[in-house]
Amino acid sequence: MMLFRRIWFKLLKIWWKITVPMRLRAIGVTLGEEITFYGMPIVSMTKGSRIIIGDRVVLCSDSRFTDLGVNHAVILRTLRSGAEILIGNDVGMSGGTICAAIRVSIGGECLIGANVTIADTDFHACAPVGRRFNSDHTCIAVAAVVIGKNVFVGTQSVLLKGITIGDNSIVGANSLVSRNIATNVIAGGNPARIIRSFLPTPLDNVQTLPLNN
Ligand SMILES: CC(C)(COP(=O)(O)OP(=O)(O)OC[C@H]1O[C@@H](n2cnc3c(N)ncnc32)[C@H](O)[C@@H]1OP(=O)(O)O)[C@@H](O)C(=O)NCCC(=O)NCCS
Repeated sequence: MMLFRRIWFKLLKIWWKITVPMRLRAIGVTLGEEITFYGMPIVSMTKGSRIIIGDRVVLCSDSRFTDLGVNHAVILRTLRSGAEILIGNDVGMSGGTICAAIRVSIGGECLIGANVTIADTDFHACAPVGRRFNSDHTCIAVAAVVIGKNVFVGTQSVLLKGITIGDNSIVGANSLVSRNIATNVIAGGNPARIIRSFLPTPLDNVQTLPLNN
């Protein structure tokens, strides 16, 4: 049984390695080298937008291949002409959603935990009158999301429009990020607040310090 399972998983990986890049390139996604796909992500692009996925990125859309499991396949969507989703080299992402009306960028080596939501738009107008049917882009707030390098975003977190997360920082599980998070800190909660900071030491030997030191 174990042998059968191993062979089946190997075949699945080969299938995804062949078919997913073909499908994504066909709809206009720019792919780097040696990207690993577990399952078929859900990707849609508005004409005139870009999605760029860097080298050695791992996108997991299948719960059998990630410890926490995923609620749904990785979703990448550009919503307007000119929108960009830029995923840096060596990023790992399990399930979760990225929606860009202008730009969502993720720096190299980031870990985007299972089922994280990142969007640079409110999707709907805030003004109450006619909101339900108001699809006028100029009434819908948008602001780019910038995630630095080597950032770790905990599972189930939601990153709202306009935020920046600095290099090396961690967002705790189930956090709501509505304001910028500095470099080298751990932040968490709803809304996410800084819990403590890292010393800016080499990455292979990161130390932590209480914030008020
Ligand atoms: C953020 C995190 C890394 C902090 O871990 P830690 O340094 O061991 O933190 P501690 O458990 O010592 O907690 C320190 C403080 O932060 C708080 N805290 C920890 N995680 C938090 C979170 N996700 N949201 C809000 N507050 C959090 C604790 O309650 C504690 O507060 P207190 O000092 O007032 O008691 C960890 O809690 C976490 O969320 N890990 C994410 C795991 C994950 O999602 N992995 C993804 C797999 S796909």
